[in-house]
Amino acid sequence: MLINNIIVLLALFIGLGACVFTLYFFITYLRSGFGKYPPFVCSLGKAKKIVIQEAEKILQEKKDPVNVADLGCGSGSLLIPLAKKFPQHHFIGYDWDIVPYLIAKFRSRKLPNVHIYRRNFMKESYGDMQLIMCYTGESLSAILGEKLNQEISKDALIVSETFELGSLRLKEKIQTDTLKIPTKVFIYQKNAD
Ligand SMILES: C[S@@+](CC[C@H](N)C(=O)[O-])C[C@H]1O[C@@H](n2cnc3c(N)ncnc32)[C@H](O)[C@@H]1O
Repeated sequence: MLINNIIVLLALFIGLGACVFTLYFFITYLRSGFGKYPPFVCSLGKAKKIVIQEAEKILQEKKDPVNVADLGCGSGSLLIPLAKKFPQHHFIGYDWDIVPYLIAKFRSRKLPNVHIYRRNFMKESYGDMQLIMCYTGESLSAILGEKLNQEISKDALIVSETFELGSLRLKEKIQTDTLKIPTKVFIYQKNAD
């Protein structure tokens, strides 16, 4: 009898969890303009490692404190290790999804050099950022690239995981694979033309 009750409770719990999960993804999908904006998928594998390594190389060369932005920072898996390693620099993460936003906010609660905002990164300005990281999507390639090219300073660098950005000048393209899937990391600068 007890076993039966436990099984029923477990089934209810799993069913409820699945409903909440499905609802969350449905709302996220609607909010993302039916897939126009990227969903919450964590950076992982070699691509994540390369983004962090490239960001570290850039930040190590900066003598004075600089501003770093992560557009769609998710759970903060890029910003947080960088902020720990470079306490002299300022790190700003934008994510409009409540779940990753709360995770990133919680994970960075003891890091005074990290600020996480629940905002649309397309509505922010990046003129005072020296390093920008993003892991967005193909449909944003043209508009985000053009926006950044108009706003960033000539010495700012952009590290884009997986997705190419238009308008900007490509400085470097690094090929890798994540979970055996070929992946690229792109490094961009302002296009002088
Ligand atoms: C591919 S994930 C990035 C994950 C992150 N690098 C990590 O490792 O956790 C993209 C994130 O961008 C967020 N996002 C998508 N469009 C956005 C927008 N316009 N403004 C703010 N956040 C956005 C999504 O909610 C999602 O968490």
